[in-house]
Amino acid sequence: MWLTWRAATERALYGEKGFYLRERPSGHFRTSVSASAVFADAVLRVLSEVDAELGHPAGLDLVDIGAGEGVLVTQVLAAAGPGLRDRLRVTAVDVSPRPPGLPERVRWSRSLPAQITGLAVANEWLDNVPLDVVEQTPDGPRLVMVDVRTGEERVDGPLRRADLAWLERWWPLPCVGARAEIGRHRDEAWASVVARLTRGRAVAVDYAHPVDNRPLHGTLTGYRDGAVVPPVPDGSCDITAHVALDACAEAGRRAGAISTTLSTQREALRALGVTGARPPLELARTDPSGYLRALARASEEAELIDPAGLGGFGWLSQRR
Ligand SMILES: C[S@@+](CC[C@H](N)C(=O)[O-])C[C@H]1O[C@@H](n2cnc3c(N)ncnc32)[C@H](O)[C@@H]1O
Repeated sequence: MWLTWRAATERALYGEKGFYLRERPSGHFRTSVSASAVFADAVLRVLSEVDAELGHPAGLDLVDIGAGEGVLVTQVLAAAGPGLRDRLRVTAVDVSPRPPGLPERVRWSRSLPAQITGLAVANEWLDNVPLDVVEQTPDGPRLVMVDVRTGEERVDGPLRRADLAWLERWWPLPCVGARAEIGRHRDEAWASVVARLTRGRAVAVDYAHPVDNRPLHGTLTGYRDGAVVPPVPDGSCDITAHVALDACAEAGRRAGAISTTLSTQREALRALGVTGARPPLELARTDPSGYLRALARASEEAELIDPAGLGGFGWLSQRR
């Protein structure tokens, strides 16, 4: 069966027996959340900042979008002090079934809350929002169709006007054979998060590329059992593509964001005190086990801010 990449990915990941309805993400790839609880500590710091900005309201939302196994909200709840924890309304949004063992306080939902007063965070969610792939031909950009069983591709008809407009603004194709991934539905997904913020912040963290440096042939990739595999949309693997976070930022502005910061994870985490600095050697003498713990934490911090790895991810933070 031949489908557009967007329809094929939707079916492969979220359709009946789709990859994310069957599988648990941590079995297939590593994210900042699964890499280290240091990431949850940093999110807790952002949440505490938002709490202060909002004047410590009686109810403060923490919404994790694309929550996977619910690890991030569980860790943030465990690390929050009682003064904050007791006021938190925690929602984990995911299409997959509620994982066993999640704290009762966590509301598990397939859809976003209607209103969010607090912090919405989406770590590696947008890269899993399905998109269409297009290729430049001598006759202009054309949709790429894919055979859902084999992953074989063929070039098809012209684009819808809205996709063409997105392409011209956000991913101009420089030559015949060049490819783009149309992020319009990701922009809309992100805008719907920002639109639900009554007050607070929305933070998206993902593999990203800027408009002046898009990859010539796109980034569509498959993951299975921790390895990169061809992106065949048959439900056997994760299918992901890097995110045009700058386009999402613009959509968030249109949805009402009053301030926008687009940086790397390295910059964002360093500003939150995650430096990867090793503990002083002196500690090894006075408190050997404390030294070993601090050393382990420093190496986890270093992984999260490594510019060649997770530190190179984009952080989009928008405020209302
Ligand atoms: C790559 S995993 C990230 C999991 C987790 N945030 C982490 O960082 O480890 C992406 C998650 O987003 C979920 N997801 C994708 N699209 C979604 C949607 N439209 N609504 C709810 N969840 C979605 C998937 O089911 C999957 O669990």
